Amino acid sequence: MNKIIIFLLFFFCIFSINAQQQNVEKRVDELLSRMTLEEKIGQMNQLNYSKGERVSLTSRVERGEVGSLLNITDPIAINEIQKAAMEKSRLGIPLIIGRDIIHGFKTIFPIPLGQAASFDPELVENGARIAAIEARSIGINWTFAPMLDISRDARWGRIAESLGEDPYLSGQLGAAMVKGFQGNGNLSDSNAIAACVKHFVGYGASEGGRDYNSTNIPPHLMRNTYLPPFRAAIEAGAATLMTSFNDNDGIPASGNDYILKTILRKEWIFDGFVVSDWASMTEMIAHGYAKDSKQVSEISANAGVDMEMVSGSYIKHLAGLVKDGKVSIDVVDGAVRNILRVKFRMGLFENPYVDVERQSVLYAENHLKAARQAAIESAILLKNDNGLLPLAENKKIAIIGPLADAPHDQMGTWVFDGDKNYTVTPLTALKREYSHVNYLYEPALKYSRDKNTSEFDKAKAAAASADVAVVFLGEEAILSGEAHSLSNIDLIGVQSDLLRAVKSAGKPVVLVIVAGRPLTIERDLPFADAVLYNFHPGTMGGPAILDLIFGKANPGGKLPVTFVREVGQIPMYYNHNNTGRPAPDKVMTLDDISLEAPQTSLGNTSFYLDSGKDPLYPFGYGLSYSKFDYSDLHLSSGSIALGGTLTVKATIQNTSKIDGTEVVQLYIQDLVGSIVRPVKELKGFQRISLKAGESKIVEFRLTTDDLAFYGRDLEKKAEAGDFKLWVGGSSKEGLMTKFKIE
Ligand code: NOJ
Repeated sequence: MNKIIIFLLFFFCIFSINAQQQNVEKRVDELLSRMTLEEKIGQMNQLNYSKGERVSLTSRVERGEVGSLLNITDPIAINEIQKAAMEKSRLGIPLIIGRDIIHGFKTIFPIPLGQAASFDPELVENGARIAAIEARSIGINWTFAPMLDISRDARWGRIAESLGEDPYLSGQLGAAMVKGFQGNGNLSDSNAIAACVKHFVGYGASEGGRDYNSTNIPPHLMRNTYLPPFRAAIEAGAATLMTSFNDNDGIPASGNDYILKTILRKEWIFDGFVVSDWASMTEMIAHGYAKDSKQVSEISANAGVDMEMVSGSYIKHLAGLVKDGKVSIDVVDGAVRNILRVKFRMGLFENPYVDVERQSVLYAENHLKAARQAAIESAILLKNDNGLLPLAENKKIAIIGPLADAPHDQMGTWVFDGDKNYTVTPLTALKREYSHVNYLYEPALKYSRDKNTSEFDKAKAAAASADVAVVFLGEEAILSGEAHSLSNIDLIGVQSDLLRAVKSAGKPVVLVIVAGRPLTIERDLPFADAVLYNFHPGTMGGPAILDLIFGKANPGGKLPVTFVREVGQIPMYYNHNNTGRPAPDKVMTLDDISLEAPQTSLGNTSFYLDSGKDPLYPFGYGLSYSKFDYSDLHLSSGSIALGGTLTVKATIQNTSKIDGTEVVQLYIQDLVGSIVRPVKELKGFQRISLKAGESKIVEFRLTTDDLAFYGRDLEKKAEAGDFKLWVGGSSKEGLMTKFKIE
């Protein structure tokens, strides 16, 4: 009986979703049939809002020349301009209002790279939900997030905004963000905002980590590494997608019809709309791919860019191009259809306005609580010699360094709306929540780039007079993010010198890093007994860090990117292909080479003489105050048929006396393929909590679809053959077994 009811309910849901979709398509067709060519092109035009241009923008909206505005954040102005669209323009089509809501609107969560370290889709979804609720309360209904660019280069400033180096992790968390922003499938919910996955595609592979630079991603790498997170987010329902700034192998993304039409529309059946990045269309002139903005308009329209962000070439030239037969009216209709479909799905025609009374949700208590939890889960304990952490609260502590009380910088990059007055720094949290702790505070440097060492003696004296020094170093927010690439990613300025000075006082040192990227910290490690790494942790980073330092919380974050030893090792990532000469466990160093040694290539392998073959810390790495033991790795079978499923089980025990959280990771290696396969690939993860002494059996299910890849013929399929499989606490360790696809 129950089964029948469930079946009927399921049938009813499918039926009503279909009916809603048909209804949307009907409304789109009906509206489109009433639009002039100029009104259609108006929908394809997105403009930046500035207060000074309000009057002229409003009259352009009234004339039907604008489909979207970005960067308007005053709810009263939003309502006024929306009113112009609804009541003064001929057809009353609402505007879609965009803004970069990247890791929170007012309540700032850890930067996306930090959130990725949580390996916790639920937490990431909840963060995006809260961002949506806050942004929507002031009238923003579209965010340009998540950014799903695979980033294997810490010099690139936008690594901060990424979900790391792994396609599977980025896909899982990107999908979670989309669900969070979009109200878990209910785009018309008055608390939802449309997501925009970006940047399509390859932008994270910019040459040398220099922002906006060319990329050279060949087809297999594109399909197997760079595209999958986008597909996952689109399957999760992402309403829109943004092109990227880079040219890949000579073709700028805003003019790439293969990527936008063949892959995105035909293969993935994406029916949302595509927006260009900021002026990325007219930048094709600087690329040398178009001679003027008229040609830009022709190339991008024909390639499948539906809406142009700010550069205005569509509004200037598209009508003429249609009349000249260079762009067909079907192309324009297709683009407008995509835009209107999203606007109808969002319920904007019914609910275009914002209730100006709703802003009480900003910085709501439960939002701050969630941001604190996110900052806790995003921190990674890299080192903890002699169990220095957690600290006992009765210790006398010297708080040192420029990031101990940096309310602006703690929020990280891409924060337009967060207010630093709401940030709780570690120092503030100490005063507010740990006021019983005996501490001294010596910032020693005013900010991360400060080169004035005159206060170092005071910092050293403070450390000498305390039981332990906690040194807060890292990066100002502005040193990562868009257009903020670096060629040297050591701790900037004289911060390493400060750490050495503090260490010379002879007391144990905890190094707390607050930064936008994985820095090269190998040379600093001897001067710190414990290292807690925080990618800019946001509004509530301070109390989160103190909770971790004093053991109210136990670190459980894992690295979403490889930490290199030297910048010259970049790119270095865990899921690389094997060479014909993989390096053995121990490789030669410069010291092993005798003077005038004869040239030989025999027996040589792939590594650096000066920095070896390994990174400093591998992907997936992160310590805890607990100890976890892995045992009993068990597969349901040693072989599976194509189309079959493998069940993987392993037992994880918390062998310590402290409750903790572990991210259990599943990796595979496909040993022989029609193209060279990565040495390891993440295929599953579970963040589990274990009480002291507790064990749990963790179960993963792997289908042969999960093992499929784009092989020699560029078709996606699993190939028969032998696999290795690991379950462990990082990409470098774990129990290993083997299986086959037959
Ligand atoms: C340029 C950035 O690349 C993009 O990510 C952002 O969404 C737009 N500017 C709008 O601010």
